[in-house]
Amino acid sequence: MSRKARSKMLDLLIDTPDAPEGLRSFMDRITRLAFGAEEIEEADVCVRLLDDEAMRALNAQSRGIDQITDVLSFPMVRYPRGTARENSRLIGRERDPETGRTYLGDIAISLPRARAQAAEYGHSLERELGYLTAHAVLHLMGYDHERDGDKRIMRDMEEQIMLSADLTREPLPTDEELFALACGAMANAYVPYSNFKVGACVRSVDGRVFTGCNIENAAYSPTICAERTAIAKAVSEGARNFTAIAIAAERAAAWPCGVCRQVIKEFSAPGMRVIVGQAGEGFEVVPFAEIFPRSFGPEALE
Ligand code: THU
Repeated sequence: MSRKARSKMLDLLIDTPDAPEGLRSFMDRITRLAFGAEEIEEADVCVRLLDDEAMRALNAQSRGIDQITDVLSFPMVRYPRGTARENSRLIGRERDPETGRTYLGDIAISLPRARAQAAEYGHSLERELGYLTAHAVLHLMGYDHERDGDKRIMRDMEEQIMLSADLTREPLPTDEELFALACGAMANAYVPYSNFKVGACVRSVDGRVFTGCNIENAAYSPTICAERTAIAKAVSEGARNFTAIAIAAERAAAWPCGVCRQVIKEFSAPGMRVIVGQAGEGFEVVPFAEIFPRSFGPEALE
């Protein structure tokens, strides 16, 4: 694929009939969300929509695999280690003097495959194209799914992009619903010492929710707060990236304790929200970053 000088970040070439209307701005939005998820301000990519036969030919020519596939990516930047986020200087050096942006590479998507997969999974063509585009842009930013750990990181990023594009598979639980789930979770609180019941509910980037309650102990210090119970349940089920946590307490609004804030930090998705209130009363919603600014987290050890 060749690149032309252009002023936009996404070059979309449609080489197949029946492409849906409004595709250009939609794909542009997904690309920008993918850049945003990686904290890349500006870069260029070229997406080409093909039919199955052209896709087969491209797959054969580029990888020696004579088969139709859904998506192929051709990165232009080689990241020595990590992903684009950790290589901002390298990306800066590759900047095109004409556009002022770095060209990350090309993406090819088979429109008929995307259509077939959307029907197979029972979701819209839009969601499928959004997913394939996000997946491919992540490849261009250095993501891979060869190893298990890498695959999970890539999946979480994909879900996060789908979430910000409002393209998740299920309708997402609202803040009201998350708070109601936290209220429900209070019922199992084990609080013989404080008699202070707390319930929590975390929502993972993939839309799953996990609840928990506080569990006290006669030796006091082994007590686990509701937030950490919910997070431990979620992480042990493979969810590690949360977009919201709701916390309900019976007798007063309970803001997360310092230890819980540190644990939430470990698994917080960018923009994560904290929903706090007293059961039966209203609740407040604040960004997690607001209640835990200038904190220490996994990024410090990368
Ligand atoms: N607790 C929580 O579960 N979450 C909070 O956000 C604050 C405090 C619990 C711990 C203990 O069981 C009880 O509330 C009183 O401190």
